[in-house]
This record gives sequence, C-alpha cells and structure tokens, in this order.
Amino acid sequence: MKTYPMQVKIVEVGPRDGLQNEKGVVPTNGKIEYINKLSKSGLKFIEVTSFVNPKNVPQLYDASDVVKALNLDKDIVYSALIPNMKGLDRALEAGIKHVAIFTAASETFNKKNINMTISESLSVFNDVIKVVLTKGITIRGYISTCFVCPYEGNIKKEKVLDVANALLDIGVEEISIGDTIGAAVPKDVYSTVGNLLNSIPKEKIALHFHDTYGTALTNVLTGLELGISTYDSSSGGLGGCPYAPGASGNLATEDLVYFLEKMGIKTGVDLEKLAEASLFMQGVLGHPLPSKQLARILSTRQKISN
Ligand code: HMG
Ligand code: MG
Repeated sequence: MKTYPMQVKIVEVGPRDGLQNEKGVVPTNGKIEYINKLSKSGLKFIEVTSFVNPKNVPQLYDASDVVKALNLDKDIVYSALIPNMKGLDRALEAGIKHVAIFTAASETFNKKNINMTISESLSVFNDVIKVVLTKGITIRGYISTCFVCPYEGNIKKEKVLDVANALLDIGVEEISIGDTIGAAVPKDVYSTVGNLLNSIPKEKIALHFHDTYGTALTNVLTGLELGISTYDSSSGGLGGCPYAPGASGNLATEDLVYFLEKMGIKTGVDLEKLAEASLFMQGVLGHPLPSKQLARILSTRQKISN
C-alpha cells in the first residue's frame, strides 16, 4: 500500500461556498446555528462567510451579523473570503482574524467573478496583505479554475504555477487549488499539483474539489499520494460558485471524513455531530443535500426510530 499522511486538515467551506449558491436567502439565525453546530463536530477550520458585494452574492449579505453572533471557540479558526480592501475592512470590523483572498488561473473566469484581470487582482491583494500583516491575522489564497475553466477550457499547469508563485510572493501562507467546476480527474491532479510540488512545499498547498462529475474523492486519493494533507469540503456537499455555470457543490465533508478515517487517516471530526449540522441546514433549506454519508446516517436514524 502507498504511504499517505497520518492526519489531514479539513477546511469546512459549507457556510461560505455552500450557502453562496443557494437559490433562496437563508435566514441569518439559521446560518449562525449551523456554524455553531459545525463548531461542535471537531472541525478546526471553518470558512464562515464572504465579505463581497452583496449585489453580486445576495446570499451572504449578512456576513457581519453572522460573524458577530457566533459562539466562537478559541480552538477553531473562523475565516472569511474577501475580494478587496473593502472586504478586509468589513471582515476586520466584524472580528474576523483569518481571511482568504481569491483569484483564478483563467482570465475570463476571474473577470466574471471579481471583475479584475489576474494581474489587477494580485495588485489589489498585495495592498490587502500589507494591512493584514500589520494586524497579525493569517491569510490563505484561493486559485479557481486550476484544471478546467467553464469559459476557456483546459488550463495549463504552468499558468497555475505562475499564479501560485505570485500569491506566495505577496505573502499568502496557504494556497488552495480549486477545481471550480469539479471536472478534474486524477491524471489532471498528478499533472498540475505534481508540477506545483516541484518548487512549492506540500505544506503550503490545499486542494479544493467540487464534485460535479463525482470525481472529487478519487482526486483526494491522488492528492494524498502526492503528500497533500489539507482538503476543503462542505458539509452535506452544499455549494457551487455563482460565476461557474454547471458547478455543483464541494466534496461533502461527511464523505471525506468517512473515506479518510476508513483509510486510517485522522481527521478529528465526529461524523455523527457533523451530520447534525448538515441535517439542521437541510431542514432550513428544505431540500436534500447530496452527501452519500449524510443520506446513510439519516436512513439509519429513521430505521432505528421506526
Ligand atoms: P466591482 O463592481 O468591480 O467593484 O466588483 P467596485 O469596486 O467597482 O464597486 C462596485 C460596488 O460594489 C460599490 O458599491 C462598492 O462599494 C461595492 P456601490 O457604489 O455600487 O453601491 N463593493 C463592495 N461591497 C461590499 N463588500 C465589498 C465590496 N467591494 C466593492 N467587499 C467585486 C468587484 C469583487 C466587489 C465583485 O465582483 C464581487 O463582489 N464579486 C463576488 C465574487 C464572489 O463572491 N464569487 C464567489 C466566491 S469565489 C468561489 O466560490 C471560488 C472558490 O470557492 C474556489 C473554487 O471553487 O474555485 C473560492
Ligand atoms: Mg469553491
């Protein structure tokens, strides 16, 4: 058997990546209770919202109210996505201590997503990071469309490396490599992530797989084989990107946790408690979430109660 990392860091993005793509707007107190439940599941990194223009992403208009009302656990890193200095100001005012900036490996996607070229976004983030560093808060950088872009098609691994190096140069601590439309297969992960690992330490790389084509878990296995030990996922499999047509939710955290624990890799997450949070949000949303493990847990509970 191959050698895999002994333990994995999971970055839960359901409250941000998940809820940003819901058709309706979720009530603020539903979001708060959901995040408080996630906080009790053993997750140590939770991306709770984004401070973007609410006209672009109305689902997260209440970012400040959500953050201010959370029962913060001192052992958990609560982060928020920000696109610019205004987002940073709003996040800091709400009490956020860990932010994530986001750009892309595809010019067309970046323009549609944040109305900036890649180079313009790097310049904006350079200024953002200067302020971030004076506040003693930490910062991660997402790169979207690292494998396939919904507008430009296949993305060259060299382009991903260029953007990753640019983010590291301006001071980002961790880079999350996004398969925004969930179209990558292990061959792509070997190629693009393998290329990054020729010059970037594996500890600085996280993988962010959407599961549109059902390939996310096989891509995680490829990531593990490459030595990557940080994975983004979303409870219940919530999510998608409003600027990536056809993109479905992230890999479900329940499915990731089950898979890793069965592989003997520690996650620190209690699957039943995590399912509590997802089932709560499923009730708020009024539609089923796609996680296979969540469906299994729900059906087992229903059989026991009958
Ligand atoms: P813009 O129109 O170029 O911005 O949008 P602007 O600076 O010209 O400002 C326009 C208006 O937006 C102004 O308000 C600003 O004040 C306001 P107005 O004068 O019209 O009333 N504004 C803001 N308001 C609140 N918070 C802010 C903010 N900034 C400006 N931070 C902008 C540029 C980036 C703001 C816009 O395009 C935007 O908000 N985009 C949101 C994109 C987004 O959230 N996408 C989804 C997240 S990314 C993702 O899901 C991918 C990821 O999961 C990884 C993967 O899967 O690949 C991370
Ligand atoms: Mg995403």
